[in-house]
Amino acid sequence: MQLEDVKIYEYDAVIVGAGLAGLAAARELKEAGKKVAVITKLHPLRSHSGAAQGGINAALGEDDSVELHMFDTVKGSDYLGDQDAIELMCSKAPETIRWIERMGAVFSRDEKGRIAIRPFGGQSRPRACYAADRTGLTLLQTIYEQAYRAGIEVFDEWYCADLLYENGKAKGVAAYNIRTSEPAIFNAKVTMFATGGYGRAYKINSNAHANTGDALSIFARRGLPLEDMEFVQFHPSGLGGSGILISEAARGEGGRLYNSEGERFMKRYAPNAMELASRDVVSRAIMEEIRQGRGVGPNKDAVYIDLTHLPKETILTKLPELRDLALTFLGQDMLKEPIMIAATAHYSMGGIPVNIRTQVKSSPTELVEGLYAAGECSCVSVHGANRLGANSVLDALFFGRVAGESMVEDIDKIELERATKEDARPMIEKVNWTKSNNGNERVPQLRAELQESMMMNAGVFRTEESLLKQKEKLKELYQRYKNIRIDDKSNTFNTDLQEAIELGHMIDFSLFIVEGALKRKESRGAHYREDFPKRDDENFLKHTYAKFNGEFDLDIEYGDVVITKYEPTERKY
Ligand code: FUM
Repeated sequence: MQLEDVKIYEYDAVIVGAGLAGLAAARELKEAGKKVAVITKLHPLRSHSGAAQGGINAALGEDDSVELHMFDTVKGSDYLGDQDAIELMCSKAPETIRWIERMGAVFSRDEKGRIAIRPFGGQSRPRACYAADRTGLTLLQTIYEQAYRAGIEVFDEWYCADLLYENGKAKGVAAYNIRTSEPAIFNAKVTMFATGGYGRAYKINSNAHANTGDALSIFARRGLPLEDMEFVQFHPSGLGGSGILISEAARGEGGRLYNSEGERFMKRYAPNAMELASRDVVSRAIMEEIRQGRGVGPNKDAVYIDLTHLPKETILTKLPELRDLALTFLGQDMLKEPIMIAATAHYSMGGIPVNIRTQVKSSPTELVEGLYAAGECSCVSVHGANRLGANSVLDALFFGRVAGESMVEDIDKIELERATKEDARPMIEKVNWTKSNNGNERVPQLRAELQESMMMNAGVFRTEESLLKQKEKLKELYQRYKNIRIDDKSNTFNTDLQEAIELGHMIDFSLFIVEGALKRKESRGAHYREDFPKRDDENFLKHTYAKFNGEFDLDIEYGDVVITKYEPTERKY
């Protein structure tokens, strides 16, 4: 890849990521007459938003209210969520559903013809609006069709490798065409990232292969902070062995959890909510049963979810994908027998810190000019220490739109800072180094070691000892990465190259997970320290902001949590 081959594209706005958040933002910009480019390493319809199964929350039920949705979200977050952002999102949820429905999304209906809602964990009322068990796919197809119709320019199968950022201001990104390795600069007044999560750092996860958290490392290597990275959600029901998502809808529709002794064990962990306690609580319960030797399956590393008591019609009409998944991957038919599940890395509560307008923060109190983020790669923070199921699709759609509106508002006040080919130099050097480095370490081996060790040492249960061990492991992987070699030297669909770059990103952001978890000497939401099993509001009712300091060390500072209506109390389900 050569500097002289760099092409410079100029846009008003450039958006990286074409899932729900990225496309929602792009539509707002396009409607306002702005010239917008969307860059994505996949085809938009393969974005991970499409994998959301069970629903999108909005207080539409007769006995529901925005107030209850807000309270459930604050409680679910273990009081770490920012209450101003939560109030905004919950109050706009019904309008967000109407907006996407008017665009053509076909939701399932109840017997009165209203949008159907189902119960989800940690919520006091049924409020997950759904399209069978393909909700994310339905929404993604809808918004993609509308983006296509509006003529939004999508650069699909382009890999964004760098952010152009200097002195508190962003001016676009550097990227290359995966098909041809053609390098380019996308120069813009406003830049947005909507690149999704990072579950692929863990061996058992529900995430797409693409969820390698690229943006997090790119931002961190530019000296920007990441927020609350220690909070990684494990979804209670990943398919046994693989971690493929078995939607919470399975429990929402009445699924029951059993251990090897045939005991419905949730009665010991959450006697009121049972299987519909919040995800952190149910995941820990499942993994504790397995640790205590009460697991099922050949390796005793799963528990059962049983849906055989449900009417056949419920499974066939409301959970058809789940039945197919269990049949395909386990050969188990949920109509006739319980299926095996275990906790699976699912969602990143932390990410790029943004304010309520989605503008990126360079510290707890300062903002970057012209830079925005929304959806799972960002931390606004509506999910705090633990996200409620069906709030992520809402977050992505709603804050994606907010990002679009914010960019429209700001764009005319921002002067375009012209990029030059030189701005692509760091990307080009990285690509050329990756292709030409001639060491003896292999990317799949390092990735497997990363994923296995993160699972073991920084997963559902954590201790000082396990986290220190993981920090050492990451330092070792970081050094060994300098000694990699890839085989494919070509310029055409070089996935060897891409996977190597992605691995570098994963090693980088994993340090933020581990260091944040080490320093947070308490248990809150998805972050469970066995050596500090209690929540400690006095010392840790705070957001973590971590930044690289040198090659592979971090500085950590803390920022305030926004508390408006609900003072923290003990969380019980
Ligand atoms: O269980 C699920 O259907 C996942 C939904 C979510 O993570 O919001």
